[in-house]
Amino acid sequence: MKFGHFDDANREYVIETPRTPYPWINYLGTQGFFSLISNTAGGYSFYKDARLRRITRYRYNNVPIDMGGRYFYINDNGTIWNPGWSPVKTELDAYECRHGMGYTIITGKKNNLKAQVTFFVPQDYDGEVQQVVLTNEGSSDKTFKFWSFAEWCLWDAQDDCTNFQRNFSTGRVEIKDSTIYHKTEYRDRRNHYAFYSVNDKIDGYDTDRDTFIGLYNGFHNPQAVLDGKCGNSLADGWSPIASHFKEITLKAGESKTLVFVLGYVEMPVDKKFEADGKTINKEKALAMIEKYNTPEKFAAGMKELRAYWDKLLGILNVNTPEDKVNRMVNIWNQYQCMVTFNLSRSASYFESGIGRGMGFRDSNQDILGFVHQIPDRARERLIDIASTQLEDGGCYHQYQPLTKKGNADIGGDFSDDPLWMILSVSAYIKETGDWSILDAKVPYDNDESKAKSMLDHLTVSFYHIVNNLGPHGLPLAMRADWNDCINLSCFSDTPGESFQTYTNPKFKAEGGYSKVAESVFVAALFTYVGPNFVGILNHLGKKDEAAKAQAEIDKMKKVMMDSAWDGNWFMRAYDANGQKMGSKECEEGQIFIEPQGFAIMSDIDKDAAKKTLAAIDERLNTKHGLVLNNPAFSKYYIQYGEISTYPGGYKENAGIFTHNNAWIICAAAYAGEGDQAFKYYSEIAPAYTEETSDLHKTEPYVYGQMIGGKDAGSDIGQTEKNFGQGKNSWLTGTAAWNMVAISQYILGIQPDFDGLKVDPSIPANWDGFTATRLFRGAKYNITIKNPSHVCKGVKSLVVDGQAVEGCVVPFVEGKKEVNVEITLG
Ligand code: GLC
Ligand code: GLC
Repeated sequence: MKFGHFDDANREYVIETPRTPYPWINYLGTQGFFSLISNTAGGYSFYKDARLRRITRYRYNNVPIDMGGRYFYINDNGTIWNPGWSPVKTELDAYECRHGMGYTIITGKKNNLKAQVTFFVPQDYDGEVQQVVLTNEGSSDKTFKFWSFAEWCLWDAQDDCTNFQRNFSTGRVEIKDSTIYHKTEYRDRRNHYAFYSVNDKIDGYDTDRDTFIGLYNGFHNPQAVLDGKCGNSLADGWSPIASHFKEITLKAGESKTLVFVLGYVEMPVDKKFEADGKTINKEKALAMIEKYNTPEKFAAGMKELRAYWDKLLGILNVNTPEDKVNRMVNIWNQYQCMVTFNLSRSASYFESGIGRGMGFRDSNQDILGFVHQIPDRARERLIDIASTQLEDGGCYHQYQPLTKKGNADIGGDFSDDPLWMILSVSAYIKETGDWSILDAKVPYDNDESKAKSMLDHLTVSFYHIVNNLGPHGLPLAMRADWNDCINLSCFSDTPGESFQTYTNPKFKAEGGYSKVAESVFVAALFTYVGPNFVGILNHLGKKDEAAKAQAEIDKMKKVMMDSAWDGNWFMRAYDANGQKMGSKECEEGQIFIEPQGFAIMSDIDKDAAKKTLAAIDERLNTKHGLVLNNPAFSKYYIQYGEISTYPGGYKENAGIFTHNNAWIICAAAYAGEGDQAFKYYSEIAPAYTEETSDLHKTEPYVYGQMIGGKDAGSDIGQTEKNFGQGKNSWLTGTAAWNMVAISQYILGIQPDFDGLKVDPSIPANWDGFTATRLFRGAKYNITIKNPSHVCKGVKSLVVDGQAVEGCVVPFVEGKKEVNVEITLG
């Protein structure tokens, strides 16, 4: 069942009912000011840091789930409604929500009155602009009352939802003309305020929540709206809000347009106040309001936003026989990659924005998905991340976006972290050809006196693995690897201990983690990522160092076959007792997804690769995607940690973790199994799961982190209960990796050090496809023909009429357009 449809021409998803199976959200803003907005206008705004600069309030874990947002209320002679249906939930005569690239349009209609609200955050602007168009579609005059509503958050979102004894006494506002200013703590230590304005005269306002809503009412029946008036209240403590009030009369057929701005302003300390020393200096706010105070200016801002996205999405464009693939590649997957780049894992309807900072491994992987769109920001991000690295190659697992410092609370010793940086820096160089990043001086541990070249950072990353091997010569598992929930040194039996940071006393003397537990996943990642490091060294003419690194990779491949090959797939780990994990010998958790894809793509052994792909298909694949492990753990294994705390079928315990599904899609494509790769791709790609949105629940235009696996419900004797149900949408490495899987492995358009490689691995029944790709200043027009209906194999490559050996289109400086024709066979 669907709840809407894709409008590809406008790059929108059109939601046709407010009753979606979960709030379906969008993100506004790409630079400093961000808003989350659901299909019923729920959500909140913040500036840069979702925890420390929260502008509007949102309640987590709410009932119903999506309560609180920017709401417009209409009282039309006693009929009270919102354009987005919620929170009043009066049945509308018509409803539609269009989520587009950086904007959302919500339209509601009731009793011949139509209200269309467009929300967006303009480029280079710290505010959300909202245009409300009210139209009387009836044949007689209409007089009605209209309110805006937003609830201020007292800045630090964590403090705001806990420290009531203080916060109920600090809230402050100021009102001037049609603008309500939020200035809590501005008198003392804060240099920022927020405001909510409208480009018209108002008939009143409220800023005190209890006056507007009433003590015993809720968002769904505010007293002021019920009474058809406002209180002109001035908040002094308690919960400050902003509500404008207006009485409107429209003739038959007449429209009225109002433009609201919800803005954020930072002031220099010496310019905070007017001459009286207490009235806030509104200069900047007034300039912001002035910028968007007419429908014409609003339209111009929207046009700029569209142009911005035209540019970003114009870099890669494909035309395949599958509309759904085109839609994902050309629009939604790229859009999601940009959002994950901006937000990391901070703020979504599953991430509260008050939890973790930016993940080291997460941010590195995110780069793979968007580096072609904004390489400059990728470079900056890479340097920020590398600056938090430690001199021995170890890494803080997370860092804070405002300070850009490593987070000491979480610490380090996540065994896979350093490798992702080699991969992301390589991806950046392959995309841009900018080798100079390797010379950039980058601090260790944010200490400038310890700065060394980025190449040095990559070197210590590579050797951090080599220098930390266990008894079999496999990398030590440490606190966790990519799977945060396989914690082989934890042995935790006390509630509340964090599986990732708790140090068991028995490993204290050894440095905090077992020197026996080893990760086959990290070994496979090492053999997959390592050749990039070798390629870089070779390019720089450092042949000896390249050979030395290559020898380490070869050695690791041998160790994998000798000590980690289980007969039909690769094992997952050795635990701290030296026992196999992810082996046919295990009672549960006999096969894991994580090491398999990278092992296959490392060319360790052809026969092993074949067997592994067959085992994956047999043991892990389901109609909703590949489960992480099988069988699911049905009890707590103290030696494995968090993974076995989840009921079977969820999260890391045999859930369908879409992030690592992509690694198998890549691997199957790499191995020439284009049909198998495409099957796995279409099992999880949102454009395909749209058809079963009622089951899938989360947005049909973006990936979620997890889908309930075939074992979901097994714990309660209802196996398959939530099989196929999505969770944790939007902020996941899945976005980047599936972008890589479809564009670089299936469609095979893959930037390489020396040029653009084109080596598709597609479903055999495709006749081919075309694509355009902007790459290092040139436009590549790519045509793939598949007359013999194979999956993979470049039979001929013709570049501008000339036959070329292999499948890499060599990079030629100065060319503006390159025509590439490939025949498979
Ligand atoms: C989450 C984390 C990511 C981790 C994954 C598996 O997605 O953000 O870092 O690799 O879970 O545990
Ligand atoms: C990742 C995992 C989650 C785990 C968390 C711990 O987000 O997905 O299951 O609890 O990391 O940090």
